[in-house]
Amino acid sequence: MYNFTYWNPTRLHFGKDQVAKLTEEIPLKKKVLVLYGGGSIKSNGVYKAVMNELKNHTVFEFSGIEPNPHYETLMKAVQMVRENKIDFLLAVGGGSVIDGTKFVSVASPFTQDDPWKIVSERIDTKGHKVPFGCVLTLPATGSEMNKASVVTLASKKEKRGFIHNDLFPQFSILDPTMTYSLPKEQISNGIADAFVHVIEQYLTYPVDSPLQDRFAEAILTTLIEEGPKALVLREDYNVRANLMWCATMALQGLIGCGVPQDWSTHMIGHELTAEYGLAHGTTLAIVLPSTLREMKNSKKDKLVQYAERVWKIKNNNTDALIEEAIMKTQSFFEAIGIRTKLRDYKIEAHEIDRLMSRLGEKNMFPLGERQNMDQATCQRILTASL
Ligand code: NZQ
Ligand code: ZN
Repeated sequence: MYNFTYWNPTRLHFGKDQVAKLTEEIPLKKKVLVLYGGGSIKSNGVYKAVMNELKNHTVFEFSGIEPNPHYETLMKAVQMVRENKIDFLLAVGGGSVIDGTKFVSVASPFTQDDPWKIVSERIDTKGHKVPFGCVLTLPATGSEMNKASVVTLASKKEKRGFIHNDLFPQFSILDPTMTYSLPKEQISNGIADAFVHVIEQYLTYPVDSPLQDRFAEAILTTLIEEGPKALVLREDYNVRANLMWCATMALQGLIGCGVPQDWSTHMIGHELTAEYGLAHGTTLAIVLPSTLREMKNSKKDKLVQYAERVWKIKNNNTDALIEEAIMKTQSFFEAIGIRTKLRDYKIEAHEIDRLMSRLGEKNMFPLGERQNMDQATCQRILTASL
C-alpha cells in the first residue's frame, strides 16, 4: 500500500428531515446566497423546506446553474457575492450546483486575476473562500463530501476539473426523500457515475490493499443490488438511502487511500460531454467497457478479482473470465437504461480525431494508473465504443 494522508472535514447530516440542521449550521448573522439549478427544487418542495429553515436569515438567491455548470453563469453569481458582501453560500441541487458553488466560493475573493485560472492553472486559493454548505438532491458525484469541482468554459467547450482542500463543503445535508422526484434518467446516470468512480480507484493493479479492495467491492455490489430497485421503486426510503450513501462513499477519498488511481474513463468522458452535451454518467458507461478491454493486460490481476468477487464468475480461462466481467458491466449499464455505444447518440467515426486532439491540446496524455495510455490508445478505445 502506498503512503497517504486522509483528511475529510465535511460534516454530514444524513436522513429524513435533516434539513432542519441548516439553522444550526449557518449562523443567523450570515448573509446567505442560496444557489440552485433550473427549478426542480421548486416543484419537489425542497426549495420550500430550505427557505423555511432560513426564514430568519438574510437570504439572496441565484438560480439557473445548468448541468455541467458554465463558468460564464457562475461568474454572475460571483458578481452577486461581491456586490452584496455575501458571507455564506448554500448549494441546493446535484453535482453541478455543488461544483458551481465550489467555484463561486473560491472565485469570489479572487480579484487579482482571471478566476478561470483557478481552474485552468489550478492556482492555489490558500484558504481564501466564502464558506459553503450543501443540500444534495441527486446521488452521483460525491461532490457533497469531496474536494473536486468540474466547470465548463462554454465559450471554448472546455470542461475541466480542479481539486483543492478549499473545496470541501463545510457540511452537507443528505435527505434521501429529496431524491424521490428524480427522473429515471438522472437516477441511472447517478448509478453509473458512482459505479465508475469506484472502478477508477479499484480496477488498476494490486498494491496489497485488501481493505480498500473490499470497500470498493462492497460499494459496487451494493450499487448492483440497489441501483435497479431505485428505478422501479419511486418512493422506497431505504433503497434511496442506500444509493445516496453509496454515491457519497464512492468519491469522498476513503476508498482511494494508498492505491493507484486511473481516471482515464472520466477524462475521455468529459470530452464527450463538452462536445456533444451527453450526461456525465452516460459518457462513462460508453467509455468504460472499451477501456477495460483495451487495458486488460495491464489491469489483468484486478480484472480477475473483479470478475470473481463482484460478478461471482468462475472460469479457469482468464481471457474468457475477464470478457464475461466486462460484458456484465456493460449489460448492467444497459439494464439501468443507458445505451453504451457512441452510435446510439449519432456520434460517428470521423469525429474521434477531433476529440483526441482536444485532449492533446489540454496536455492530458499520458493517462491511466500506469501512465501508459497515449493518444493512439484512447483513439482505439473510442473507435471500439462506436
Ligand atoms: O437543474 P435542476 O432543475 O435542479 O435539475 C437537475 C438537472 O437537470 C436535475 N435534478 C437534480 N436533483 C433533482 C433533479 N430533478 C428532479 N428531482 C431532483 N431531486 O438533474 C439534472 C442533472 O443535475 P446535475 O447536477 O447536472 O447532475 P449530477 O449530480 O450528475 O452532476 C453532474 C456534474 O458533476 C460533475 C460532472 O462532470 C457534471 O458536471 N462531476 C463532479 C465530480 C466531483 N465534483 O467530484 C466528479 C464527477 O466525476 C463529475 O465529473
Ligand atoms: Zn464521475
